Amino acid sequence: MKIFLDSSKIEEAKRWMPAIEGATTNPSILLKEGTTSIYEFCKMLEPKPVSIEACGDFATEARIYHSQIPNAVIKVPLLNTEGGNNLILIKQLSEEGIKINCTALMSLSQVILAAKAGARYVSLFAGRVDDEGGDYHRMISDCVDFLDNEDTETELIVGSIRTVGNVLDAVRAGAHIVTIPPNILGRMLMHRFSLETVRQFEADNAKLSK
Ligand code: E4P
Repeated sequence: MKIFLDSSKIEEAKRWMPAIEGATTNPSILLKEGTTSIYEFCKMLEPKPVSIEACGDFATEARIYHSQIPNAVIKVPLLNTEGGNNLILIKQLSEEGIKINCTALMSLSQVILAAKAGARYVSLFAGRVDDEGGDYHRMISDCVDFLDNEDTETELIVGSIRTVGNVLDAVRAGAHIVTIPPNILGRMLMHRFSLETVRQFEADNAKLSK
């Protein structure tokens, strides 16, 4: 199981670098984190993959990012804003050698279609499924079973993580990758009894050396 960082912040990437194998971003993350250019962030993470969302003219944006950023993975949603499908686009861009992360997926059936079209990654938004009362644990394990039984490189990224419990559920369900926001990584790290224990050992060590 791999961890990706669900953020565009350079300082967070530096902080978590030993534990992460890539990063994911989207326009809402860039807006919230005040990131105006993704280029420096991608450079810093090289050669680890960074997912960048294509918006508007998906094909043009995908080709521009791909030509300028060696570790760019392009996020393309399965559906466009009109409800039309992007399967032909995903297939075409993938055949051009552009790694596609098919994003905003909420069901096994969507994951199947995106993988069949050649997406390198498929992103299941577990937290959003959970918000609506969906069984995201079962969905992750069904998606992984499907992908592992296909002759495909496609990996499942579980995103939309809101709690440490979501991360552990995703791991238990066999997710290939979980993309985790920095605040949740912070919660995974911290345990007050670990802190207490380390402080106790430091204090006793200081007494020993007197
Ligand atoms: C990751 O690839 C997604 O863009 C992200 O996890 C979405 O999170 P949200 O559902 O909290 O917006």
